[in-house]
Amino acid sequence: MDSKIINKTSVLFVCLGNICRSPAAESIFNKVLNERGLQDEFVVDSCAIGPWHVGQRADRRMIKQGEKRGYAFKHIVRQVSPEDFARFDYIIGMDSENMKALRAMGRKHEDKLHCIAEYFQSYDYDCVPDPYYGNTEDFDLALDLLEDAIDGLLKCIAKNDN
Ligand code: 4NP
Repeated sequence: MDSKIINKTSVLFVCLGNICRSPAAESIFNKVLNERGLQDEFVVDSCAIGPWHVGQRADRRMIKQGEKRGYAFKHIVRQVSPEDFARFDYIIGMDSENMKALRAMGRKHEDKLHCIAEYFQSYDYDCVPDPYYGNTEDFDLALDLLEDAIDGLLKCIAKNDN
């Protein structure tokens, strides 16, 4: 399926492995959409820059910390594909390395590419730091940052729609 998603706002979260940050972003986004009755207006997905974890579920440490906050992790890892750049309205990377890789692949779609840090409201960070080699606090920080950014992203999308 490589055609544009019509009549919905489509959002693709991207990180290096698609097992920690981007599936968490997808889960948070879906929960917020459900709480706000907006689920039919959006298509949400996530994917990896790299191929290492394709076919796997999210990292069990992220699932554990996320489930404590009520997030459901259903995503199966997939790698970003050239078709994604045509399909999605918002393609959101988690750090500057993700953005570099996305810009290299999606030159013609620069306007769709955003770093998650653009949407922080309460945090002075320039990325969501990768928690993969970290501890529980690092996974909690990623969730805190993503919750803040997703609220900011939805405000930004609402403003752009008016
Ligand atoms: P993520 O974290 O990009 O937030 O999913 C990582 C997951 C796996 C690896 C690196 C980062 N890895 O090197 O396998």
